[in-house]
Amino acid sequence: MRILVTGGAGFIGSHLVDKLIERQHEVSILDNLSTGRKENLNPRAKFYQGDIRDKQVENLMKEQKPEILFHLAAQINVRKSTEDPIFDNNVNVNGSLNLVSSFLKAGGRRIIFASTGGVMYGEPEILPTPETVEPFPLCPYGIAKLSVEKYLNYYHRYFPLSFCALRFGNVYGPRQNAFSEAGVVAIFSVRLLRGQPAMIYGDGQQTRDFVFIEDVIQACLLVMEKNVSGFFNVGTGRETSVNEIFQQVARWVGRPAIREYAPAREGDIRRSCLSVEKIRQAFGWQARVPLEEGIKQTVAWFQREEKAGRL
Ligand SMILES: NC(=O)c1ccc[n+]([C@@H]2O[C@H](COP(=O)([O-])OP(=O)(O)OC[C@H]3O[C@@H](n4cnc5c(N)ncnc54)[C@H](O)[C@@H]3O)[C@@H](O)[C@H]2O)c1
Repeated sequence: MRILVTGGAGFIGSHLVDKLIERQHEVSILDNLSTGRKENLNPRAKFYQGDIRDKQVENLMKEQKPEILFHLAAQINVRKSTEDPIFDNNVNVNGSLNLVSSFLKAGGRRIIFASTGGVMYGEPEILPTPETVEPFPLCPYGIAKLSVEKYLNYYHRYFPLSFCALRFGNVYGPRQNAFSEAGVVAIFSVRLLRGQPAMIYGDGQQTRDFVFIEDVIQACLLVMEKNVSGFFNVGTGRETSVNEIFQQVARWVGRPAIREYAPAREGDIRRSCLSVEKIRQAFGWQARVPLEEGIKQTVAWFQREEKAGRL
């Protein structure tokens, strides 16, 4: 199939592109390399360096005629979204609309959208949180993701378009950016490998639903193939604290590890964990890689990159 992946130079997008190519799909990538890396680009994919907000997107769609659009490109920094909600909205909402409308015009029929489960439900009272809980994001980034879901639902209703919005938990694994505000597994891995202390904001008892990249890519591949529309959590159904993540990373780094505690960051959610019953029932997907194994693989990857001087 002809597939366009936006954000294909990024962490999740590049793993997805690799798997799609392995399965003999014809893949093109649209990415402006703002956080993505050239080294992540699969040489067998056609690469367009450009912005999802650009008018040129229409020409790209006409040229490539993708049958499926995986839309992963985004402004992903929650803190930045609170500092500059207009920029966040421009990229995450207007950029997405630009893509969807040109995709439809070029005859595209199915979109898989990278949404968020981590911030979608605000401070949820029910854990693990099912999709039936009303979304209540408490940051502009989450509000933008929810808006795009609503637009997709609108297009699905009035146009010949099917869609899946995948509400990812905290995705971790090789290639994640270790120098951003989020991605605690990557950040801890690099700091501990360098003999630096890991910084924990708050008491470290805050929890998240950590899901390994390999499982996330499996979910993307499964939902691509079935013409079912809706939004689905993608997580493990398990809460893990930041303290536990520190201990796991320290274990695999294999050298003395230090942690330091700093005041909690304003706006950080206390607990997050996703129910994954809906996606299991609709697509037969569930996460398979245990946290211990995923962290082991992630640390090993960062170890190799650090040794090779590629970080
Ligand atoms: N990593 C997670 O835990 C997580 C959790 C929930 C949702 N998501 C979503 O998954 C998607 C991928 O996230 P990631 O972790 O791989 O991040 P990433 O930063 O590695 O990937 C995002 C990619 O989008 C590109 N990009 C950004 N703005 C662009 C623009 N205006 N035009 C074209 N390209 C642009 C970047 O260069 C980058 O390659 C995002 O939509 C993100 O919101 C990620």
